[in-house]
Amino acid sequence: MNLGSTAGADRGRSLRGTVRVPGDKSISHRALLFGAIAEGETRIEGLLPAEDPLSTAACLRAMGVTISPIHAGETVLVQGVGLDGLTEPEDVLDCGNSGTTMRLMLGLLAGRTGRHFVLNGDASLRGRPMARVSQPLTGMGAMIRGRAGGNLAPLAIEGCQLHGAVIGTPVASAQVKSALLLAALTASGSTTVIEPARSRDHSERMLRAFGADLDVGGDMGRMICLHPGASLRGLPVVVPGDISSAAFWLVAAAITPGAEITVENVGLNPTRTGILDVLEQMEARLEVLNPRDVAGEPVGDVRVSHGPLKAFEIAGDLIPRLVDEIPILAVAACCAEGVSRIRDAEELRVKETDRLAVMARQLRLLGASLEETADGLVIEGGRPLHGAEVDSETDHRVAMSLGVAAQVAGGTTRVHRSEAAAVSYPGFWEDLARLQADPGGQSG
Ligand code: S3P
Repeated sequence: MNLGSTAGADRGRSLRGTVRVPGDKSISHRALLFGAIAEGETRIEGLLPAEDPLSTAACLRAMGVTISPIHAGETVLVQGVGLDGLTEPEDVLDCGNSGTTMRLMLGLLAGRTGRHFVLNGDASLRGRPMARVSQPLTGMGAMIRGRAGGNLAPLAIEGCQLHGAVIGTPVASAQVKSALLLAALTASGSTTVIEPARSRDHSERMLRAFGADLDVGGDMGRMICLHPGASLRGLPVVVPGDISSAAFWLVAAAITPGAEITVENVGLNPTRTGILDVLEQMEARLEVLNPRDVAGEPVGDVRVSHGPLKAFEIAGDLIPRLVDEIPILAVAACCAEGVSRIRDAEELRVKETDRLAVMARQLRLLGASLEETADGLVIEGGRPLHGAEVDSETDHRVAMSLGVAAQVAGGTTRVHRSEAAAVSYPGFWEDLARLQADPGGQSG
């Protein structure tokens, strides 16, 4: 195995054993953010020690929040400064590659009266749409300026008193919803956010646990109403393993001859488990073991073993429940019998990369037969893949998806810019090597 910028993988080695994936990225960002504006201390167990949450922590530290060092396996302590305690940073806030950091910061900072903030990020983040957050915030009275009429970073925020509003969001996005709820905490009057389909609900769960006054209603929980006035209180938070990271092992086990992998301690929040529904649709050999509740989130262990797979079709309200898993599902589709279809997934075009275009381009290099549509992919399964030189194009989930595809591609595959995985899963390549080399061994 060749670590660093290029990872190599040969077909032939199966995958067996148990793995614990790192903490959920979405929950990690929220634990840091809500802890920062709570009163008192927030103790976070299982925080994801990867580049994206580190970006959130660095921004918060630059505004006077004390956060203990973030290392794998160590409890992280956040000393909250209260709802209005963030200080004006002396420099630009660097959100790195993290859309969640930038969008949630917009909501957090827009209502900080009398303070000025500038948000920036890497080349990928500077190209991602921010108007979906800055526009509704402007409707609440926010003053946000940026390139392309406030759509592109760098973004400047002039903090001011916001007022509550009723906002219908154009896309089912937890980042947009969460940004608006953060802004609503200090607005005058209540704010209602109505989503076109339900997105992940970690913010609602955690804000309520911290003491916010919040109602979730409407059809399938698509309407969230936040009443300002309650202060947040620091809490112990336990972050479960990220199902979006577990997804790579679930698919790897399903497609690799002879494989069996158990992923322990996986977050199974129903707004995130679309990948399990699709694997069931594919008739994958999958079991959920030890289902339990940990600090307000459902958790379990998931075991998958290799077997024949059927093609799948996904669209509509299922998409937000597996939006980050579409790259790895494209790999699964290559190994299934029949033609798989992904529709209503145009959001993938504005992720860290245009994931529809990138996955189509890279999987074709491995011999896959797939067609890109405006809002998805059509993938003909059952064509044997062959080793090739492929490239993550800097996208963490593409890097890991290609690493899994290499398992079933004949010969050697080299994944260039494989280090991108560290954005959400720093130990991914080591865990892959351990699962290949150590039957029955413990990874993670
Ligand atoms: C996230 C929401 C999703 C997801 C991203 C994390 C979050 O993005 O793709 O990886 O933590 O709220 P959208 O809100 O743009 O769908």
